[in-house]
Amino acid sequence: MSNPVTYLDPSQLPKNLWDPDTGLLHIPESLARCYEALIDRHGLRELASSRTRDDSPIGGIDQVSTDKHFAQQFDNSVARAQLSLTNVTGEVDAASDALVCALSAGAICLTDAPCGAGAASLAFLSTIAELRKQDVLPRLPLEVRLLGAEISPFARDYARQLLEDMRPFLETQAIFLSEQLLEWDATDRLSNTDLIQAMVRGCPELNNRLLVIANFSGFLSQRGKQKDVEPQLEELFRHTSGPGNVAIWIEPQMNKVNSDGGIFHWLAQLTPLKWRRFAQLATGGEASPPFMTSSVKFESQLALGRPHPIRLAVMRLDLERS
Ligand SMILES: C[S@@+](CC[C@H](N)C(=O)[O-])C[C@H]1O[C@@H](n2cnc3c(N)ncnc32)[C@H](O)[C@@H]1O
Repeated sequence: MSNPVTYLDPSQLPKNLWDPDTGLLHIPESLARCYEALIDRHGLRELASSRTRDDSPIGGIDQVSTDKHFAQQFDNSVARAQLSLTNVTGEVDAASDALVCALSAGAICLTDAPCGAGAASLAFLSTIAELRKQDVLPRLPLEVRLLGAEISPFARDYARQLLEDMRPFLETQAIFLSEQLLEWDATDRLSNTDLIQAMVRGCPELNNRLLVIANFSGFLSQRGKQKDVEPQLEELFRHTSGPGNVAIWIEPQMNKVNSDGGIFHWLAQLTPLKWRRFAQLATGGEASPPFMTSSVKFESQLALGRPHPIRLAVMRLDLERS
């Protein structure tokens, strides 16, 4: 990114985001409040409280799957994205550096695909805003052009409402957001063309682009989906590439992500083989895995007193052209 690099020192994090004494991560209050209000506005509190340990909804195009994912996973997804930015255990610095640098000042085009209800983007923006509010980061004007791409119209609608509700707080911290939420089917070439055209129209400059892919492994590990989605992913990465641009891919630590046959190893093979002209692995080395991990506990506003583990696996790809 063309912005000056700003690293975040985890020891400076305010206690309302990370409490080292209890080892608990808290999502920014502004976002927790808006999320809770939206859960109540849509009558989803009972669904939110009925999650069991074995539930891990991945969303989907219809309202039932979307509601289950939104009510039972949204704040976990926020916490996972927040952990990759705040780097509280010091284990994911390459991801944190890229995110803090991209979201420090100036103008940025943030593509979040699939965005669901916007958990990853909202986690980043609300965390940066909270860090500005607490004087940990400088309050420099930041213009964010957000492109949220998602197949479910219900999830796009939740994202739209949350972004609207969060806007006043973001603006108090000089974060000015303009968003476009697009219908996107990752398996469909034409749908991908629409997303790329929107990105190029919205952000004609080649630099200052950040691509975020969060929690897509549930979908990608279904039979045949990696093959169906690979051409669109390649196109998205290729078009996002440019000087200093970065992709951050966030997943829960699970076999389907970090085992030898998992999504991250698939990406780590694709990158040097097929994508090397526009993407390079920025995590891992010869002897280390191509991703970083960090684990903490998180307490949801909707389940106070019942902290549960957030186990993050994150990959950073630098989208430089050669
Ligand atoms: C586990 S959710 C992750 C959403 C968001 N990134 C997050 O972290 O909360 C997976 C998302 O993929 C979406 N999805 C499923 N099939 C898709 C497809 N073919 N194209 C694009 N998105 C799809 C689902 O609707 C769901 O919102």
